[in-house]
Formats: sequence, structure tokens, C-alpha cells
Amino acid sequence: MTFQQQILEGIPAVLPAQKEYDPAINHAPKRKKILSPSEEKLALQNALRYFEPQHHATLLPEFKNELETYGRIYMYRFAPEYKIYARPIDAYPAQSKQAAAIMLMIQNNLDHAVAQHPLELITYGGNGAVFSNWAQYRLTMQYLAQMTDEQTLVMYSGHPMGLFPSHKEAPRVVVTNGMMIPNYSTPDDWEKYNALGVTQYGQMTAGSYMYIGPQGIVHGTTITVLNAFRKIGKSPKGGIFVTSGLGGMSGAQPKAGNIAGCITICAEVNKKAVHTRHSQGWVDEIIDNTTALVTRVQQAQLDKETVSIAYHGNVVEVWEAFNEHNIKIDIGSDQTSLHNPWAGGYYPMGYTVEEANDMMANDVERFRESVKTTLCRHAAAVNAHTAKGTYFFDYGNAFLLESSRAGADVLAENGIDFKYPSYVQDIMGPMCFDYGFGPFRWVCASGKEEDLAKTDAIACAVLEELAVNAPAEIQQQLQDNITWIQGAQQNKLVVGSQARILYADAEGRAKIAQAFNGAIARNEIGLVILGRDHHDVSGTDSPYRETSNIYDGSRFTADMAIHNVIGDSFRGATWVSIHNGGGVGWGEVVNGGFGMVIDGSKEAERRLQSMLFWDVNNGIARRSWARNEGAVFAIKRAMEIEPNLKVTIPNIVEEDLFNNI
Ligand SMILES: NC(=O)c1ccc[n+]([C@@H]2O[C@H](COP(=O)([O-])OP(=O)(O)OC[C@H]3O[C@@H](n4cnc5c(N)ncnc54)[C@H](O)[C@@H]3O)[C@@H](O)[C@H]2O)c1
Repeated sequence: MTFQQQILEGIPAVLPAQKEYDPAINHAPKRKKILSPSEEKLALQNALRYFEPQHHATLLPEFKNELETYGRIYMYRFAPEYKIYARPIDAYPAQSKQAAAIMLMIQNNLDHAVAQHPLELITYGGNGAVFSNWAQYRLTMQYLAQMTDEQTLVMYSGHPMGLFPSHKEAPRVVVTNGMMIPNYSTPDDWEKYNALGVTQYGQMTAGSYMYIGPQGIVHGTTITVLNAFRKIGKSPKGGIFVTSGLGGMSGAQPKAGNIAGCITICAEVNKKAVHTRHSQGWVDEIIDNTTALVTRVQQAQLDKETVSIAYHGNVVEVWEAFNEHNIKIDIGSDQTSLHNPWAGGYYPMGYTVEEANDMMANDVERFRESVKTTLCRHAAAVNAHTAKGTYFFDYGNAFLLESSRAGADVLAENGIDFKYPSYVQDIMGPMCFDYGFGPFRWVCASGKEEDLAKTDAIACAVLEELAVNAPAEIQQQLQDNITWIQGAQQNKLVVGSQARILYADAEGRAKIAQAFNGAIARNEIGLVILGRDHHDVSGTDSPYRETSNIYDGSRFTADMAIHNVIGDSFRGATWVSIHNGGGVGWGEVVNGGFGMVIDGSKEAERRLQSMLFWDVNNGIARRSWARNEGAVFAIKRAMEIEPNLKVTIPNIVEEDLFNNI
């Protein structure tokens, strides 16, 4: 059967052969056993409803075995035989070009070269799922292949509920992931309802089909590291950046450190992850003992090298060894998956990965205690360094939140805030988000490298033109992104689809998109899929990350993210998504995003202008209402540009009035 026929077939009438478990592929850890016997039965009934009754007797013992062995029913047998990757858009069987674009994006998220645990349909972050099982994948692809521009596919946390009649201007797909009744949103609720097969953790760009490999995070991390060095008034040359994680997102850190020009030490316990990133050229050297590491880093400091080193071991060993040998860490952070501390996101000291995985599944309490003990030791070592002048920031992985819950000494004197800022509080928020700068991205649907090169040149020209008359407040941002896009091809950032990212504000995003649309109309490039990370100005309400620099008390609300996705959906998005969890953990965040296919038409031009303007200015308006100075500046500027925009501006109360009352 051809690829196209297999897509159109959906769930096959004849059962495909059972698959061998391939240990060479990076698999998700076994999830903890959480279902009661009656719930296990329910999980099996839920899984079997995807299949004709004549297959139930064969599939029941197999799915039961998967549930017992892996803690989930992935339906491995139904993983397709064809290679999954972002094909050129014309390779997909489709009635709707927009639907074909979404198929391309879904396949990119499940490409073995891109996804963290491809056979468990996990793209990144340990549990960031595109789907919960292969039946959902097959059905969704079939629906997308069949649908017209008069229908909308409705996705309930990985499950394709079906195609519903709509209209041309409506999104082709509406995605929700992990939406829970608030009181049922604890981490164990995820374990339970995910095991039952009724919800999933979509992360940010996994379940929203907008992952572009580690490039997105390389860019964000480069901007963060550059600005962190600016913040401490030191050049990155010869400066030391210590962090951890070489996984899906965290693997970008050494590459970003190299682009910024510092010495990066990135610890990683998982040998596979270390070697993957090394073989991809994302980290320069591997060292597996602290003695050799200390000597190597001292040399690098003397020579003011730009180098990245993977330390194969627990990150706490690095912090402690550097403290003992008086190596001054300039910038410190962490990117283990602490949004998921009890299911493989953070490895305790003193155990191999295999031992820890075993304990996680079979001795849950001991695993929890070991993680907590390690976190306390980790935080103590960080504190010892910050006392000597290290600038430490939480990198949006819930390190401070989980450390505080573990009883580590990370709380500020008021007992509410943390001792250290999140990178959004100090860097991303005031320097980028408040001005509307965020992770705009695009994918060239032709799959051609030359299209990507042309779009890079177009984007660079637009930013350079904007920089000529831009106010001083946003010059640095524009310049950083011009430098980034100029070096993008040389830095070989593409893994998977022909995608690019840069940070731009509302005006920049719309102008770049408009210029792409013009180039498509002139047949200079093929169709382009616009999108962004959820980690953005308006897309995400996350009190310890994206909205951590909101100080009017509203950072625990999620109105902005909900408005964002609703607003995008009727202003022209091709697909929209809204998620619980993502980035910092289940129950801790609501985040949303969009995808938009542009085809060179006048309608595309209208849609992109309308939707991108809203997609950025919604968040600026909220940040401005929270009295953030940069955002007040940016929203006033937006109102000058667009007379139809009228936003309520906050009045600032004189501090003296409170002193005299
Ligand atoms: N700051 C941001 O912009 C941003 C963006 C995306 C993700 N994140 C967050 O960063 C975290 C990491 O994301 P990811 O996709 O790389 O996850 P991941 O699970 O793919 O990678 C984390 C890695 O950390 C390693 N690790 C765990 N404990 C360790 C320890 N004690 N010492 C050394 N290594 C250890 C794991 O083996 C794993 O490879 C997540 O919490 C994610 O939500 C932040």
C-alpha cells in the first residue's frame, strides 16, 4: 500500500502484525500504576472502542499487557510501517490544503529524529503528547485527509471526536488538551485520567502540532543567555554557564551557549541523551567525572574559550564540585523536567538511570523521598554559589517551585516569593514580552531548503527596515534578532521540517508574514505555515513563568490565554489549541497557540493582519493593565498605529498617598 492509501485507510480492517519492542529507540519510562482493577477494565474498554468487535478478543490481552508493562496503552501494533516525517505538503492525500499542512506538522512532531519518545507519541518534555495512542493518530490523519474547507475537526486531548460542518473562515482544527474541572487537576489526576485514555498532557507545542525541533528553544535560550550576561554586566567570553538537561528542549542549552560565546557545562544523567546531542553537534565535548571536568573548565577559563561540555552525571555533582574547587559560575540555571518530578523528570543522586526508573515504578515513596533529598542538596549548592556572586535564575521548569515543596531553602524572606527570579521576571518579561516580542515561527510547506533561505532573507530585510525608525526601547531586540537570522543557516538549526524562529513584536510579525504572502503570490516560494510557541506574550498564563512578571495579583488567573485562543479562532487561524499544563506542569498553567497557513491570497493577507495583531496585543494590553511600563509604552504605540484599538490604560497611584493615610 502507498503512503497515501495507508493514511486514507485509517484504522486498518485487518490487524497489522504485532511489533517487536525496539530497545534502541528512546522509550517513555514506565508510568506508575495508579488504576484500581475496575478502572483498569474501564481503560481497556476505552481503548477497545476504537476497534471492530471481531478484534477485541485478540487486542484485549495485548492492551492489558501494555497497561501492566508500561502503565499506558499505546497500541504499539498500530504504529504505521511508513516513515513518519514532515513530507512536502503535496505528498499528503487531502481535499484541503490547510488540512494537509496540519498533517505535515503532526508528522513532524512524531518524526523519530525530532520526537523524544516517538513510539509513545511523546514529542518532548517526557510527557508532551501528540496523541495518547496510535489509533488516535490513524483516525486523525484519516479525518484530515477526508475533510473539506467546510468542516472543522474537533480534538479532545488527542482523541479525534470528529468532523463537524463549519465554514471556510473557521479553523480547520480546534484542539484542547488536558482541560480539567479545576479541582481534578493535580499531577495524580493526570496519571489517572491519562491512563484511562481520556486526557493527555499536550505540553505546549507537542499536542498543538507546532514543535519545530530544538531550534525554538535554541533561539529563546540564546536570547536569555545573552541578556543574562548583559544583566550582570559581563561579556560571555570566558564566562561560565552551568545548567542541566540534554533532552528535548534542554538539549538546546550548549548550542545556545556557543552562539552566545560562553563556556557551557550541561549535566545529563541519561547516556542516550548525551550521545544524541553530541552526535548532532549540539554539544562539543563529553566528560563523565568531576575531576576531569574541573581541570577542563579551568583551562577553558584561562583560554577564554567558547565551548560546551556535556557532563554525564547528576547536575548536583557539578554544582558541588565547582563549589569545592572555587570555580566561579557566572550564570546558573536548570532545565531538568521538574514539571514532572515524580515520573522521570528529575533523577535523584546515587542511582543509575535504570535503578531510578525501577524505583519510580516499584517503590514510589522511596523515589519521591530521593528526589526531594536531591533537590534540597541541589538548592544548597546553588545557594553556596550565589553567595559568591553567581546569577541564578529559574528556567521555567518549576525548579524553584518543586525545590520549595521539597523543603529546600529557596524562599525569600517574606516566605511567599522565591529567592531567585524566574528568567521571565528578570529577562524575558521586561525585555521582550512587555514589548510584544515573542517566538514567531514559520515552516516552509514545500519542504525545500531554498524556500527557507528565501524566507530568512525576507525576514531579515523586514527587521532591518523596522530598525531604521524603531524607538530606542526595542532597538536591542531587533538587533539581536537580525544577528540571529543572519547566522541561522550557518548554525544549522533545522531538525525536521524546514522551519525558522525569531522574536518579533506585533508589527514585525505582521510585516514578515505579509512579505511572505507576497512572495508566495509571486511564486517565489511555496505555502508557508505561520505559528509560534505557546511560551509567548499572550498565549500563556503561568504564574511562575510567562506571567511571573505580572504584579497586580492577576498572575493566578487564566483569562488572557483563554481570550487569546478564542480571539485567534475567529480572526483567521487555521488551527487553534488550548492546554492545561505544558512547561511547568499539570494544573500550573493554561497555554494556547495557533497555526495559520498562508497561500499568497488576499484572504490570507486579511487574516494574518487581523489575527497577528490580536494575538500579540491581547497580552500587551493585559501586561499594560498590570502596570508594566514597557507594556504601557507598547500598547500606546499600538493604539497610534491602529485607531480601532482602544485599550483601558491604568492610572498609577502616588506612593506618598499611602504613607499619609
Ligand atoms: N525555559 C523555557 O523556555 C522552556 C521551554 C521549554 C521547556 N522548558 C522546561 O524545561 C524542562 C526540560 O524540558 P525538556 O524538553 O528538555 O525535557 P526532557 O525531559 O527531554 O529533558 C530533561 C533532561 O534532564 C535530565 N535530568 C533529569 N534529572 C537530572 C539530574 N538530576 N541531573 C542531570 N540530568 C537530569 C533527563 O535525563 C532529561 O534528559 C521542562 O520542565 C520544560 O517544561 C522550559
